[in-house]
Amino acid sequence: MSGASEMVVLGIETSCDETAAAVVEETGHGDRPWRVRSSVVASQTDVHREWGGVVPELSARQHVRDICGVVERALSDAAVETYDAIAVTQGPGLIGSLLVGVAFAKALAWAKAVPLIPVHHLAGHIESLVLGGGEMPLPAIVLVVSGGHTSLYRIDTPGEYELLGRTRDDAAGEAFDKVAKLLGLAYPGGPAIDRVAAQGDDRAIPLPKTRLTHPDRNAPHLPGRRDFSFSGVKTSVLRHVAARRVAIGLAPDAQLPSQHVSDIAASFQRVVVETLLDRVFDAAREFGARSVGIAGGVSANSRLRADAVVRGTVEGLPVFTPNLALSTDNAAMIAAAGLRRYRAGVVAEPGMSADPALVLGRQS
Ligand code: KG4
Ligand code: ZN
Repeated sequence: MSGASEMVVLGIETSCDETAAAVVEETGHGDRPWRVRSSVVASQTDVHREWGGVVPELSARQHVRDICGVVERALSDAAVETYDAIAVTQGPGLIGSLLVGVAFAKALAWAKAVPLIPVHHLAGHIESLVLGGGEMPLPAIVLVVSGGHTSLYRIDTPGEYELLGRTRDDAAGEAFDKVAKLLGLAYPGGPAIDRVAAQGDDRAIPLPKTRLTHPDRNAPHLPGRRDFSFSGVKTSVLRHVAARRVAIGLAPDAQLPSQHVSDIAASFQRVVVETLLDRVFDAAREFGARSVGIAGGVSANSRLRADAVVRGTVEGLPVFTPNLALSTDNAAMIAAAGLRRYRAGVVAEPGMSADPALVLGRQS
């Protein structure tokens, strides 16, 4: 241990295209349980840009190149020489990428004789809310919305999650990225849409809001009705763009005029944000939630944040979002989730390995 009874944890995250390490310590205070001592993220965006998306094999190789330096930097930024445990993302994610972090963390934990704590990537995103705003009043409804996931959870007890709904097709971040690509915007698409939408008319083009209903209308309580689907709105944008190009006589390789791009981006963003927030606040009302949270890369979206605060005010509910730097993938959230798990008695079995399809919590 590092002297006091408060633990210091090294977190490691390599599930997708960010190599991240962080040092997080316990504060000893119940409402703000953790403090971030350092958080280092080496983004692979430049490696994947020319391919227009994450290439798994390139991602794994880049993690191998970066991980030693990133961990060393996190330790030196935090000015710590020792730590009491290592938390690592076990899954879900790209198998080759996850394996780099898990193998590295296992070897380091063995060499330093400290416990290893396996963490679910989405549990990490959820704890980024606590790092941002302190412990959430429970029960809470939390949406994790990223490039790979759109999942709605109910939390009654800290560290325990009930999956209420998830996307049936594209994740919201994935839809942002694909729509950005067909609008000719730079990769990664989410931040690009956020930027150009600020100059657009969000009612300029009509787009559908997909609301899934269970096939049995007499059984609205059955699973499925809180699921999401973004492929419909994405296809509508695709059709609209194709029709608009023909209507204004654009050459095949010519860009749409920037005002059109902004209007489409703003309309798309409005529909996605409304869909997400409808589902969050419907669930909050239904379960008598005392707070709501929105985490994951898409929670960096400025419209999503602003509209969530407005709805929270109307509903009288505090809205938790991560600090912007901890919205997208990072290891501080993994260290925090690891601390919660360790305090609940969880450590890795010797045979623990990466699990690209790891599931979080029970499903209702
Ligand atoms: O959580 P994250 O870093 O990685 C995954 O676990 O997937 O999320 C990345 C996703 C990408 O799809 C990216 O386009 C999206 O988050 N994103 C945004 C914004 N910033 C990042 N989407 C909309 N608006 C943003 N400002
Ligand atoms: Zn993520």
